[in-house]
Amino acid sequence: MSKKLEFEIAGIKFPNPTILASGILGVAPSSMIRLSKAGIGGMTTKTVGPRPRIGYSNPSIIEIDDGTYLNSVGLANPGIEAFIPEIQEIKHTVSSPLIVSVFGDGPEGFAEIAKKAEQAGCDAIEINISCPHAEVASISLSVKLTKEFTRTVKEAVNIPVFAKLTPNIADIVPIAKAAEEAGADAIVVINTVRALALDYKTGRPLLSHGVGGLSGKAVRPIGVRVVYEIFPHIKIPIIGCGGVYTWKDVLEYVYAGATAVQIGSAFAEGSDIINSITSGLENFLEENQINNLQELRGKAHTFKDQLEAKPKECQ
Ligand SMILES: Cc1cc2nc3c(=O)[nH]c(=O)nc-3n(C[C@H](O)[C@H](O)[C@H](O)COP(=O)(O)O)c2cc1C
Repeated sequence: MSKKLEFEIAGIKFPNPTILASGILGVAPSSMIRLSKAGIGGMTTKTVGPRPRIGYSNPSIIEIDDGTYLNSVGLANPGIEAFIPEIQEIKHTVSSPLIVSVFGDGPEGFAEIAKKAEQAGCDAIEINISCPHAEVASISLSVKLTKEFTRTVKEAVNIPVFAKLTPNIADIVPIAKAAEEAGADAIVVINTVRALALDYKTGRPLLSHGVGGLSGKAVRPIGVRVVYEIFPHIKIPIIGCGGVYTWKDVLEYVYAGATAVQIGSAFAEGSDIINSITSGLENFLEENQINNLQELRGKAHTFKDQLEAKPKECQ
C-alpha cells in the first residue's frame, strides 16, 4: 500500500483511514486478526465493561432497509477480565492499532476498565459515552459529564483517549469542545441515531427493547453533517463514523473534516470492502495528483461563502 493513505493520531500511525467501528464483530480475536490481515487501518473492540452481560434478548438487531440497521444490543460484553487475554492475543498476532472501547460504573469505573485495557497492551481507549440504548446514553448529552468522564479516563492512562459522542442532541459543538478541553485526543462521531421500528400488523416495537440505534447507509448524511459542524471548532482529529460503504463515502467524511473513518454496518457485506475502499482512494488520489488523503481534509468548508444563507423571496 502506498503512503498516500497514511496518517497519525496522537502518535499512533495508521496505514489507511479505515478503522473497524465498535461492536460490529463482537470480541473474538479471530475476526479482528482476519480484518487486520485483510488490510484494515485500525480496529476498535466491542465496548467492554466491568462485568459480563448478555444485553437485551433477540430480536436485538434488524435490517430495516437495504444496508440500514436498528439495534439495541445493550452493550452485551464478556467483562474486562475475560477480555484481557483476547486483547493480548490480538496484539501478539497483528500490528494494526487496537482501540479498546470502554464503559463502567461512573467516571472512576470507566477509568478502571481503561487502565486494565492499557495494561493488556492496547494502543488507545475509546470511551463510549453515547450508546443510545444503555445507561451511558446521556453522558455525552451533558457538557459537565462529558468533561468529567473524559478527564477522569485521560488522567488514569498514558495512551490516547478518544471520546465517542452521540448525534442525538441539538447542538453537538459544546460537547465536542468539552471533550477536547478535558484532554481527549480525538473525537469519534457518530454513535447510532435513536430510532424506532414497529410491526405494521400489530403496532408492537420490533426490537425487544423498543427504541434502538440506527446505523448503516441511512445515517451517513447525519454523520457527515456532525463532522462538518464540529470541525471548525476543535483542533483534535475527528474520526467520522456512520454509513461508510465505499471510498466515495470516505472522501465525503474527509471533506467534512474527518481524519479517518470507522466502519461498522458495511462489514455485513464482508471484509472485501476494505480493499475496495483503499484501492478506490489510492486511484482517486493518483488520478488527481494528490500526495496524501489528509490534504483534502476540511475541503467542504472552503465552499462556505458560496452557500446560500437565506431562502429567496418571490420578486
Ligand atoms: C450491532 C451493533 C452493535 C454496536 N455496538 C456498539 C458498541 O458496543 N459500542 C459503540 O460505541 N458503538 C456500537 N455500535 C455503533 C457503531 O460502532 C457505529 O457507531 C454505528 O453503527 C454507525 O456506524 P455504521 O453505520 O458504519 O454501522 C454498534 C452498532 C451496531 C450495528
